[in-house]
Amino acid sequence: MLNRRAVLAGAASLAVTLSACGKENESSSGSSPEGGTVGIAMPTRASDRWLTDGKSVVERLKDMGYKSKLVYGDDDPKAQVSQIGDLVKQGVDALIIAAIDNKSLNGVLQQAADAKIPVISYDRLILGTKNVDYYVSFDNEMVGRMQATHIIKKLELAKGKGPFNIELFAGSPDDNNTKYFFDGSMALLQPYLDSKQLIVPSGEVAMDRITTLRWDGPTAEKRMSRLLAKWYRNQTLDAVLSPYDGISRGILTAVTSVGYGSGVKRLPVITGQDAELASVKSIIAGKQSQTVFKDVRRLADAAATVVDDVLSGRDPWVDSSIAYKNGVKAVPAVLLQPTSIDKSNYDVLIKDEYFTAAELE
Ligand code: GAL
Repeated sequence: MLNRRAVLAGAASLAVTLSACGKENESSSGSSPEGGTVGIAMPTRASDRWLTDGKSVVERLKDMGYKSKLVYGDDDPKAQVSQIGDLVKQGVDALIIAAIDNKSLNGVLQQAADAKIPVISYDRLILGTKNVDYYVSFDNEMVGRMQATHIIKKLELAKGKGPFNIELFAGSPDDNNTKYFFDGSMALLQPYLDSKQLIVPSGEVAMDRITTLRWDGPTAEKRMSRLLAKWYRNQTLDAVLSPYDGISRGILTAVTSVGYGSGVKRLPVITGQDAELASVKSIIAGKQSQTVFKDVRRLADAAATVVDDVLSGRDPWVDSSIAYKNGVKAVPAVLLQPTSIDKSNYDVLIKDEYFTAAELE
């Protein structure tokens, strides 16, 4: 196992420590120490994307000469805390964590800090602790902007059309990304709400009314069904702001079960995120309207590169101007750019080899 204390102290002391330990695999350029083990804690197996994330991080680390221990918390914050505790006890050299509940990890991350294990917050920022070293994610506010831009374009709001009825859904209240997605969307949608080109008949616009615990599709479906029964007996739903494909598919089930998408009742515009296979197929079939593609293979690469840099005593490349505040510190971040996908450009996913053409048939 690597001597973590030494590698974190910097490249010069790293070389000394490794030679003192008789470590043989260190290359002359001082890069990629071999044999380290990285603990990877992912939130759920219930969604394609997180399976791709886990697999991709393991593969990239392997390419760089590291072993991995990959665990999934199955959306149970307590289980995730205990999994991370186990990884700390097993003496991993670094941790890559996509939190289930962003505030539940303070205790276990103190154990990691005491053991000098660097922590990379993956996709979702861990809040309320100084014991998180780097954050790798996408431009989360841009994700929300892309969803709003799609709605604005589809409803031709910039051309003055309306009024249209819209309902708003947000992600899990314990995920730091939720606020960024929603704020990004509202920055663009609010002017149309103010001008009354967009109307929210339910009046449910405050965050505590619109979140979806653990991003759960059936929970979103239930809320959509309730709203349809109460507010849409005599009017039409034109659009739904949805932050994630699993939620979008729940919403789609609710609207189709009351007749949208058949006869004269057009489906509302429904946004999404993650380019999950079922949703991309739904977009091609003209059901879900849009998704946001975040190439998580690139995110995995960024996380593995940061880990390799830290364990090799190099300063990881981070853009200090975009450090995300976690309530205790500004965490240096690497933010990747997402891509909006709809029926007109889904072939990007094939070109980028995210899916094969056959998978999308
Ligand atoms: C968020 C993530 C989204 C989506 C969602 C539900 O944290 O940024 O891309 O995956 O979780 O899993």
